[in-house]
Amino acid sequence: MALEGKRILLGVSGGIAAYKTPALVRQLSTAGAVVQVVMTRAAHHFVTATSLQAVSGRPVRDDLWDSAAENSMGHIELARWPDLVVIAPATANLLAKLATGTADDLLSTLVLASASPLVVVPAMNHKMWLHPATQRNVARLAADGATVLDPGIGDQACGEVGPGRMPEPEEIVAYCTTRFAPRRLRGIRAVVTAGPTREPIDPVRYITNHSSGKQGYAMAASLARAGAHVTLVSGPVSLQPPAGVEVVRVTTAIEMRDAVLARSSDLDVFVGVAAVADYRPQSSAPQKLKKSPGKDAPAIVLTENPDIIATVADLPKRPFVVGFAAETTNVVEHAREKLVRKRLDMIAVNDVSDRSIGFESDSNAVTLLTASTCERFERATKSDIADAIVDRICVALRADTRLAT
Ligand code: C5P
Repeated sequence: MALEGKRILLGVSGGIAAYKTPALVRQLSTAGAVVQVVMTRAAHHFVTATSLQAVSGRPVRDDLWDSAAENSMGHIELARWPDLVVIAPATANLLAKLATGTADDLLSTLVLASASPLVVVPAMNHKMWLHPATQRNVARLAADGATVLDPGIGDQACGEVGPGRMPEPEEIVAYCTTRFAPRRLRGIRAVVTAGPTREPIDPVRYITNHSSGKQGYAMAASLARAGAHVTLVSGPVSLQPPAGVEVVRVTTAIEMRDAVLARSSDLDVFVGVAAVADYRPQSSAPQKLKKSPGKDAPAIVLTENPDIIATVADLPKRPFVVGFAAETTNVVEHAREKLVRKRLDMIAVNDVSDRSIGFESDSNAVTLLTASTCERFERATKSDIADAIVDRICVALRADTRLAT
């Protein structure tokens, strides 16, 4: 059982998604976890303590001033008890309290008093989720070291559609399972590039591409979950930095190359997921280019950008190098040619002619090639694809004698 003996404190706050928590408790228990439920006052409007006590097999705690409960295990003792604190659902109000360090009920007090890792699973109306105040609170919590599981997009209890759905209990259990999975890349240093690059034409215009950065961020998160020390060199994207990952923000391909090379000594793994612009304007105009009616349109002279991954693969002490490629035709042949030409150890290729995957999508399907293997990963979330690739990196590194077996 993946969670055998793990102590999980499950905080339940007052949102409609609380009705899913008995199923969540049951699945965590089935996976071997010992679950202690702590409810806020508002949570009682959506799910009963009786149900949660029945599935967890432990009395539910909900009151800082319950002297009988405090007598059997005081709140400070309870705060020391868990291996992991999971709050699902986490309402906008609870996120605001946690972000400011408010401790005005049992759950918020426990979070403040606990040194255990914190996972928050927000669920709310999409407008509440997208409100700058909520986004600010989420960013604050992530910066303080909490892991925030992004809510799903879809039909909401209020009848509206948008981001704010609590992930299904299976997904939350899967996340907890990976958290406790053996950290196979402990001690390994990895650099991941992600997102597009932006190549300036003048102060207000630039050349870029459709890369959302999602697959690169998922790779960084997965490597970090496996225990690697990860630096994510990211082009301009609007994504939350993954938990436990150092993020270096860059704009152009030259900046990305310089940021990578500055971190290339003592590097074990390099994963180039960024969609680096192949060309940049030879010079960027210092002032905004003006339209000149009647004159020919200005020509933009392009020059080639450095190939970052090939540069890394040519380093005298090269890391294990993984590339990504997006192709529209003869997908595998083109990827194999890149594997050889850029001297990569591994390349993941996706078919971007299928518009339902890749770029902005949350899912992907890739073929993973090495010099001697070819493996197809069918459509899955970018996070699951990243986990599968990281698994293959672990296997390859072990064969490379970089990791102790
Ligand atoms: O764009 P292309 O298909 O050649 O990208 C294949 C791999 O090369 C990707 O891993 C990408 O991040 C990397 N690349 C790079 N620098 C470039 C172009 C591509 O690191 N200038």
